[in-house]
Amino acid sequence: MRPNLGLGLGFGLTLGLGLALFACAGDPVHSDAVDALGDDPTGMPNGPTHRAGQPCLTCHGGSGPGTAQFIVGGTVYMFKDQSDPLVGGTVHLTDATNATFDVPTNEVGNFFVTTAEWQPVFPVLVKISKDVAEADMISHIGRDGSCADCHTSTIGPRSPGPPYLALTPEDLGGGDAGP
Ligand code: HEC
Ligand code: HEC
Repeated sequence: MRPNLGLGLGFGLTLGLGLALFACAGDPVHSDAVDALGDDPTGMPNGPTHRAGQPCLTCHGGSGPGTAQFIVGGTVYMFKDQSDPLVGGTVHLTDATNATFDVPTNEVGNFFVTTAEWQPVFPVLVKISKDVAEADMISHIGRDGSCADCHTSTIGPRSPGPPYLALTPEDLGGGDAGP
């Protein structure tokens, strides 16, 4: 009886350990989403200027592989349908309680807010600006902290295309505020 019991126990332990490891490896949907992003097409090293245009929170949403955890993050552009990043702009966020948080855009148009910096109450309203030009997003962010969850590179039924500040360079005057 003893050897059999030992075998049964060993098998049970192996199975249990296997399941535990699988659970630790996390949600397969999450790892598929991370894998689907592949290598960084921009070739930048991991850091604030990498993966422009990608949904930052897929990797920085708390389930890894990014250790830095964001509440919102993305990439913004100067003009509609063009790839020039909005460098040195500001992303203004306003939550459901009217609490605000402004975050600058870096040299590739990326910005991010960590969970340690701000815990907004969703939905959140978004405005982007540079100098006198500004663009409001009319709808709000429900729960997707990644701008690219909706603003994918190609315009589609769910995507308005990448977020931009102005339609054309002529639009940068800022309307009434311009000369
Ligand atoms: C495919 C996964 C993935 C995506 C998408 C991604 N990152 Fe990362 N990021 C990482 C990994 C992995 C690291 C290195 C580990 C770390 O520092 O969090 C990293 C590091 C960083 C860091 C350095 C954090 C620190 O504390 O030093 C910043 C900042 C950053 N990423 C910003 C962004 C922004 C902004 C976006 C979206 C435009 C983005 N990342 C998209 C995986 C990703
Ligand atoms: C839930 C989907 C969704 C998310 C998430 C989202 N947007 Fe939008 N955004 C839209 C839609 C749809 C429009 C077009 C209609 C409108 O203005 O509401 C838009 C429009 C905009 C505009 C107006 C100019 C343009 O590009 O059309 C800006 C600026 C903008 N978004 C910025 C952002 C930023 C920055 C983020 C991330 C912090 C973000 N959005 C996240 C759906 C989204």
